[in-house]
Amino acid sequence: MIIYKNSTKGIKPEQLKDFFVGWTHQPSNETHLQILQNSAFVILAIDDRTEQVIGFINAISDKILSAYIPLLEVLPEYRKQGIGKELIKRMLDELSNLYMIDLCCDETLKPFYKKLGLSPMPAMGKRNYEFQKGNL
Ligand SMILES: CC(C)(COP(=O)(O)OP(=O)(O)OC[C@H]1O[C@@H](n2cnc3c(N)ncnc32)[C@H](O)[C@@H]1OP(=O)(O)O)[C@@H](O)C(=O)NCCC(=O)NCCS
Repeated sequence: MIIYKNSTKGIKPEQLKDFFVGWTHQPSNETHLQILQNSAFVILAIDDRTEQVIGFINAISDKILSAYIPLLEVLPEYRKQGIGKELIKRMLDELSNLYMIDLCCDETLKPFYKKLGLSPMPAMGKRNYEFQKGNL
């Protein structure tokens, strides 16, 4: 069974294995945990048989007006089972008293987010690839 938690309390780095699929410079499990701990909001999907985190979403926020969702990932073997959708729904619920909720995504994911109530918007961004693993 998949259980959902909105806190990193009690989560150990080794429960966060195998994420950042396809990234050239992958943050370590320890860095991943710190990213989640430093986020204003986090939702984890955990496989209760293995106690591994198999999906997560985080949001950084001023908690008054706006939030940005930088990361959402479900491990490949758990995809296409509705877990990504559930993580977004739960996060949007947590953020429902904020005015601006933004994220960036690939063109192919636009239908996924549209179905969940988000609208396409123009965006600009910059990537410092030397810090893709995190700056720790
Ligand atoms: C995007 C991601 C989180 C989706 O997780 P998931 O658990 O497979 O998603 P769900 O099973 O809840 O799928 C929800 C819907 O989106 C669709 N969908 C899922 N991934 C999709 C993709 N890559 N492109 C287009 N549609 C997609 C599903 O077909 C499903 O549609 P349905 O409700 O009509 O059946 C997952 O593919 C992932 O981790 N990708 C790599 C990281 C990434 O791209 N994250 C997003 C950053 S913006």
